[in-house]
Amino acid sequence: MFSFKDLSAAFSQRFNHSQFPLTPATLYEPCNYFLTIGGKRIRPILCLMGNELFNEIHEDAYHLAAAVELFHNFTLIHDDIMDAAALRRGMETIHTKYNQSTAILSGDVMMIQSYEELNKINGNYLQKILRIFNKTAKEVCEGQQYDMDFENQNQVTLEAYIEMITLKTSVLLAASLEMGAIIGGASEGNCKHLYEFGKNLGIAFQIQDDYLDAFGDPTKFGKEVGGDIRQNKKTFLLLHTLDVAPEEQKAQLHALMQGQASDKVQKVLAIYKACGVDAWANTLKEQYWQKAMEHLEAIAVVSTRKKPLKELADFLIQRDV
Ligand code: IPE
Ligand code: IPE
Ligand code: MG
Ligand code: MG
Ligand code: MG
Repeated sequence: MFSFKDLSAAFSQRFNHSQFPLTPATLYEPCNYFLTIGGKRIRPILCLMGNELFNEIHEDAYHLAAAVELFHNFTLIHDDIMDAAALRRGMETIHTKYNQSTAILSGDVMMIQSYEELNKINGNYLQKILRIFNKTAKEVCEGQQYDMDFENQNQVTLEAYIEMITLKTSVLLAASLEMGAIIGGASEGNCKHLYEFGKNLGIAFQIQDDYLDAFGDPTKFGKEVGGDIRQNKKTFLLLHTLDVAPEEQKAQLHALMQGQASDKVQKVLAIYKACGVDAWANTLKEQYWQKAMEHLEAIAVVSTRKKPLKELADFLIQRDV
């Protein structure tokens, strides 16, 4: 079995050459820029691990992995426009470095490139994979729309938040594993458990992302800390605080959300801290991590084969980048 590090190196070796033509450079240079500024490559590794759980890694799993990583990067380019984010992976976002129209079009072409990679996959299971891929891609759009809709809603339940992050983030992690497993010849039952493992892990992953967006170390995180607060994102941090805060702090929070005061982030963070969001974040993450582990346990392969997935799961919810 290969570790995250081995798989990451094998994937990079194939992926880290230019995916795009030279001209028009105004379209393709931003694409190359975005792909070379880093990224943890979690989703392609999940494709490979999903495959390797059941079989030796097949060349098709690398095409799938490339497709998924291209799709993920496309969503990030557009997400950064939607979230008015200036920083990604410690570097300027495309719409900041170039302009918004370029970011829209570079994202579009990257998504189409993702389908080029999918099209290289063996016809025996391509249809099955495409069905999952397209379903997942639409769900990501739905999640992103809920995320934006919630910015303008005062009342969002924890349940709605979990549904939103499931759609925008966790289904892609889950599908990466499942599609990899299909290439590995996994049974339907095993695919289901693997998908549920990825889904619950993905929820814990986004909970950690939301936590880091507020409390991450700006020198490591690579994104502008406090971006979610500035945008009035309905993260669990805000929902929990609104739930437990005394009336006075609640009113203060609502007032802060009405405007864009220069000390908005600082003040909201202070209220979060006072309301014990740290402990709540851990409880929430743990809950989904636990569910993920139950599904991992239920997959009918010897436990030694599951070790890389278990290690990746631990890394994902403890990460600081
Ligand atoms: C960022 O995903 C978007 C989320 C779903 C939180 P990653 O944290 O995997 O981003 P990169 O690819 O490593 O930069
Ligand atoms: C992004 O969620 C999810 C997708 C890109 C589909 P976020 O908006 O929280 O991701 P970051 O924090 O910008 O990476
Ligand atoms: Mg964002
Ligand atoms: Mg977003
Ligand atoms: Mg985020």
